[in-house]
Amino acid sequence: MKALRSHAVGGPETLTLDEVESPVPGPGQVRVAVKACSINYPDVLIIRDMYQFKPPRPFSPGGEASGVVDALGEGVTQWKVGDRVIASTGNGAMAEEIVVDAGRLWPLPDGVSFETGASLIMTYGTNMHGLLDRGKLKAGDVLLVLGAAGGVGLSAVELGKAYGARVIAAVSSEEKGKVAREHGADDVVVYPTAPFDKDQSKALAEAFKAACGPNGADVIYDIVGGDYSEPALRSIAWEGRFCVVGFPAGIAKLPLNLTLLKSCDVCGVFWGAWVAREPAANAKHIATLFDLLKTGKINPRVSATFPLARGGEAIQMLADRKAIGKVVVTMD
Ligand SMILES: NC(=O)c1ccc[n+]([C@@H]2O[C@H](COP(=O)([O-])OP(=O)(O)OC[C@H]3O[C@@H](n4cnc5c(N)ncnc54)[C@H](OP(=O)(O)O)[C@@H]3O)[C@@H](O)[C@H]2O)c1
Repeated sequence: MKALRSHAVGGPETLTLDEVESPVPGPGQVRVAVKACSINYPDVLIIRDMYQFKPPRPFSPGGEASGVVDALGEGVTQWKVGDRVIASTGNGAMAEEIVVDAGRLWPLPDGVSFETGASLIMTYGTNMHGLLDRGKLKAGDVLLVLGAAGGVGLSAVELGKAYGARVIAAVSSEEKGKVAREHGADDVVVYPTAPFDKDQSKALAEAFKAACGPNGADVIYDIVGGDYSEPALRSIAWEGRFCVVGFPAGIAKLPLNLTLLKSCDVCGVFWGAWVAREPAANAKHIATLFDLLKTGKINPRVSATFPLARGGEAIQMLADRKAIGKVVVTMD
């Protein structure tokens, strides 16, 4: 079987398409014939050794996939050969076959394509936890989402609407703003490209405040970081929740006096670590997510697909800030 693999620290151009042995599932494991693997920002980082997990090389990037069960390890009873599944893998899914612990699979709902199935769990799963458990989002809240047209961002927009919030999408271009509106955003702020000087930072804070309204944003969902975070925090509501989700623009430093002035909370969101601690609560979120999909309350957007041999280009789209919604690698 073929796998796109990282042999040395570097960008997507360092990945090579290798012919490797078919993996054999051990006890409690399942082998999946992968049909689609979606790209997430951690794929940009993991091949450069910049992610919190550093798998031994050679390894394949790819944190989530969909496919068909094609072999069972000893003791696996909950799956059978031929089942359509979604796999949360951490890495390794940019390959034609992958071995996964049976507990890290979800049934791919009937009628849902492999491309969509591969694009659900990391983004919407992160956001169900981030928005609901950490951000305490409730109907009627104002939700400001930074980077609102990316994978995590667009799904946060959709979930925000599904849970009854007024959603302000903040993005870097009119094109991304249009997409965020198509997925339910009530208003859009197009921000300039960082770095910002003091005046630019102040101007952006004013733009956020104008869009959020007189009370400010009850929940700020920051998947961008860098110079974007502080102006956003300045637009938070009294007792608002500022969710720290990701840092593609760099790790921000926040003046803590702002939290005192608004009596607000800064909440870290680390979905993967939370899932390891609270698997049952995560399973409940995923069941709700499948319901939202079935009832059309969310509509995941796959904007580009690449064959496995060009998987590096798929990762590069995210690194170049060009991805809208999800980018997916397909195996056929
Ligand atoms: N905390 C968690 O548990 C968790 C779980 C999953 C993912 N994440 C994190 O969430 C973030 C988003 O992941 P994703 O998969 O949605 O990625 P993505 O689709 O590439 O979205 C990232 C967004 O960040 C914005 N951005 C700002 N500066 C950027 C830069 N210099 N380079 C690239 N993008 C930049 C872009 O929006 P604009 O161009 O509109 O600014 C882009 O749409 C990542 O940091 C990821 O590690 C966190």
